Amino acid sequence: MNIHPEFHRFLNRHDKQVLLCQRGLVVWLCGLSGSGKSTIANAAERVLYQQGRMSVILDGDNLRSGLNADLGFSDEDRLENVRRIAEVAKVFVSQGVITFVSAITPRGELRDLVRGLLGEDLFEVYVEASYEICEKRDVKGLYAKAARGEIAHFTGKDGSFEPPQDPALVLNTENSSIEDAALELLEAISDRICPDETL
Ligand code: ADX
Repeated sequence: MNIHPEFHRFLNRHDKQVLLCQRGLVVWLCGLSGSGKSTIANAAERVLYQQGRMSVILDGDNLRSGLNADLGFSDEDRLENVRRIAEVAKVFVSQGVITFVSAITPRGELRDLVRGLLGEDLFEVYVEASYEICEKRDVKGLYAKAARGEIAHFTGKDGSFEPPQDPALVLNTENSSIEDAALELLEAISDRICPDETL
C-alpha cells in the first residue's frame, strides 16, 4: 500500500493537552435505545463546558445520518459502525478532547473491538435500563414500531443485547435522574481528565 502515515510531524497529544489544560478520554456509553446514553452525555458535556473543558459527543443516531449513512443494523454493519466511531474517537482523544460516544454497542465482540482500538483511553459505561422501561419511555416511537414488526433486528427484541461484563461504571437510569447520572459519571472520570503534572 502506498500510504505513509506521518503522525510524528504533527503537534502531539501532550501539546494539545497543555493547550486545553485537560487530559483526553473516551467515555463510551453503551445500552439500549432510549436508555439515556445521549441525554447523559449531553448533561455531562454541559457541566464540563461550564468548567471550561473541551468535549465532543459522537452520537450513533447522528453519525448514522452522515459518516455511517451507508450502514444498517445487521451484525456486520454494526461492527463497521462501531469501528468507524472508535476510529473517530481515537482522533479526538489524540487531540486531548474529552470524547463521549453514545452508541448501543450491543455485543461483547463490538466492545472488544473498541477496547482493542482505544486501550487505556477508554472509559466504558453501561447505561442500564430494561427493555420494558425503554419501551414505556419510547421517546422516538421505535419500540411501538418494533412491536408492530416494522423494524428488523431491533436491539433487545430480534437483535441481541449482551450487557457488558466488566464496565468501568454502570449508570442505572430506571430510578435515578439524568442529572444525578451525569454527576456520577463526571465524578468517576474526574481524575482521568483533570490536569496534573503528568499532562
Ligand atoms: S449500534 O448498535 O450500531 O451501536 P447506534 O447507536 O449506532 O447502534 O444506532 C442506534 C439508533 O438507531 C437507535 O437509537 C435508534 O434510534 C436507531 N435504530 C434504527 N433501527 C434500529 C434497530 N434495528 N435497532 C436499534 N436501533 C435502531
